[in-house]
Amino acid sequence: MAEDLIVGQGNKEEQYLTLLPQIAALISVETDLVANLGNIVAALKEQFNWFWVGFYLVRRDELILGPFQGSIACTRIKKGKGVCGSSWVQKQTLIVPDVERFPGHIACSSQSRSEIVVPIIRKNEVVGVLDVDSEKLDQFDLTDQVYLEKIVALINLS
Ligand code: SME
Repeated sequence: MAEDLIVGQGNKEEQYLTLLPQIAALISVETDLVANLGNIVAALKEQFNWFWVGFYLVRRDELILGPFQGSIACTRIKKGKGVCGSSWVQKQTLIVPDVERFPGHIACSSQSRSEIVVPIIRKNEVVGVLDVDSEKLDQFDLTDQVYLEKIVALINLS
């Protein structure tokens, strides 16, 4: 694997449609989890240039920071805390148009204004989350949810 990412053009859905098969191909040839999570966040960052994109992985009763792109971040989030911990408990994607209006939001960076958190679910258990932050309000919608859920479904956690 030595190819450059082809950065998609057009609207957001078209960009995801260019990105999705490339991520699938990228991680299909590698079995190491950390390597694959690292390349997924790099590909997402390159395509969308979000302020922060990264993974937190479940370890016992908390989420621990995994591969990410962006500024330094909180390393541990308790189950049920913040947007990430809430997504874990609720076992569903959470879209937060304005983080200041989300009770208990954990501000790893004061620049984050909106956020989407997608749980990685295996055998009906959340094993981690994908967290994306924007420095702009209201940046995430159902299109992001649909395609980010497709991307986390590709991750082989066995
Ligand atoms: N805002 C998140 C914490 C993680 S950072 O955004 C990287 C939350 O409330 O769970």
